[in-house]
Amino acid sequence: MTTTRRNALRNLLAFTAGSPLFAQSPDALKEKVNDEDVLGPVNIHEFEIVARKKLHKLAYDFIAGGVEDEQTLRANRSAFEHTVLLPRVMVDTSKVDLHLSFLGMELDSPIIIAPSGGKNLVLPNADEVVAAAALVSKTAVCSATGVQLLLSEGKPLNWWANTIGSPTEASAKTYAKRVKESGGKAIVLTVDNQYQSNRDRNNRNKFDYGYMQTGVPPTAGQKPRRPATAAMWEPHTPGMTWNYIGWLKSGANLPVIVKGILNPEDAALAVQNGADAIVVSNHGGRQMDTVIATLDALPACVDAVGGRIPVLMDGGIRRGTDVVKALALGAKAVLIGRAPLWGLGAFGQPGVERVLWMLNAELKLAMGLAGTPTLASINRKIVKQHR
Ligand SMILES: Cc1cc2nc3c(=O)[nH]c(=O)nc-3n(C[C@H](O)[C@H](O)[C@H](O)COP(=O)(O)O)c2cc1C
Repeated sequence: MTTTRRNALRNLLAFTAGSPLFAQSPDALKEKVNDEDVLGPVNIHEFEIVARKKLHKLAYDFIAGGVEDEQTLRANRSAFEHTVLLPRVMVDTSKVDLHLSFLGMELDSPIIIAPSGGKNLVLPNADEVVAAAALVSKTAVCSATGVQLLLSEGKPLNWWANTIGSPTEASAKTYAKRVKESGGKAIVLTVDNQYQSNRDRNNRNKFDYGYMQTGVPPTAGQKPRRPATAAMWEPHTPGMTWNYIGWLKSGANLPVIVKGILNPEDAALAVQNGADAIVVSNHGGRQMDTVIATLDALPACVDAVGGRIPVLMDGGIRRGTDVVKALALGAKAVLIGRAPLWGLGAFGQPGVERVLWMLNAELKLAMGLAGTPTLASINRKIVKQHR
C-alpha cells in the first residue's frame, strides 16, 4: 500500500470509527469487498463505473436510465455545469458546519438519501443495507415506497417513509399511522408518479417490473410477466389531488414533504394545502421527459414559497459543489438518488458509506473555499446561472 493510500485509509477509518465499514459484504456482491477496493473510486462518477461492471445490464439500465430521449436526465446534470460559483474570500472558514435543524429534526448534513424503489435489483434487502449505511453515517434517509415498515432494528435516527399515495382516505390514514408507529419522522409524498412512465432502456431490455422485488437475472428461460412496454400506461395514482396531504395528516401528526414539484404555482398550492416542505424534483428524469431541470426550476419555486416552508431539491447531484449551488439557489437540503445506489452496486454497505462520506467531505471543502462556513451563510450572491 502506498503512503498516500495508507493515509487515505487511516483518515477513512478515523471518520468511521466504530462503524461496520469493513464488515463482511452481503453475499449477493459475490466478491469480498476489501478496503482498498472501496477507496478506489475518487468520485461518484467512478463509483458508477465500478457498479456498472458488477451489475446485470437490466439493473444498471433501470437505475441509470431516464425516460424516452433522456433530455431531462441530461439537463439535470448540465444545469449544474451552467451554474457557476462566485466564492467569497477573507472569511474565517477554519470551522465548517454542516448541521441544520429541519422540521423538528437535527440533521448532521443537508445531504439526504432519496427514496428509490427497485434496490433489490442490486442486493437482496437493499433498503436495510442502505438504512444501515445511513445509520453509521448519521444521514437522514427516505426508504422506498412499500418498504417503509420493515426496518425493524438499527433504524436511522432520521428515517422517512415514501408513498405515491393510495386510493382512499382510510388507507392514507392507516399508512400515516403505521409510519408513525414504526418510528418514521416524516412522510415523503411523491406526486409525479401518476402513471408508470415510458423508459426506453427498460422497454428495449424487456425489463419486467416484477424484477424490482425478485431481482435479476431471472431464472433461465423465464418470460417477463409484465414487460415494461405493457406496464407503460399503468395507472399509479392519477386520481390523487391536493386533499391527500390532509388525509395523511389526519392519520398521524407527521410532517408531509411533497416531492415532485416543478411549477411555482404548485409550490404555492402545496403550502396552501398544508405541506410541511416540498422537494423540487423531476424524479431524476424518470417520469416525464423534456421537463425542466430541477436546478433551473428551483429559484422560482423558492420565490413562490416565500420562506413559509423549507424547499428541498434533487436531481443530478454528484459533487459537493452541486450541493452548494442548490443551497445557494434556495434549497434547505438536497436528496441524492443514484449516488448511493452506485456505492451500493459497487461495494454494498461500505460503498454507500463511502459515497456519503465523499459527498459530505466535498461539500465541506466547497463551503470552506466559497467563504461560507455555515449553511445559513450560503446565499444567491455566490451563484450565477448562465447559458
Ligand atoms: C432506481 C431509482 C428508483 C427510484 N424510485 C423512486 C421512488 O420509488 N419514489 C420516488 O419518489 N422517487 C424515486 N426515484 C427518484 C429519486 O427519489 C430522486 O428523485 C432522483 O433519483 C434524484 O436524481 P439523482 O438520481 O440524479 O440524484 C428513484 C430513482 C432511482 C434512480
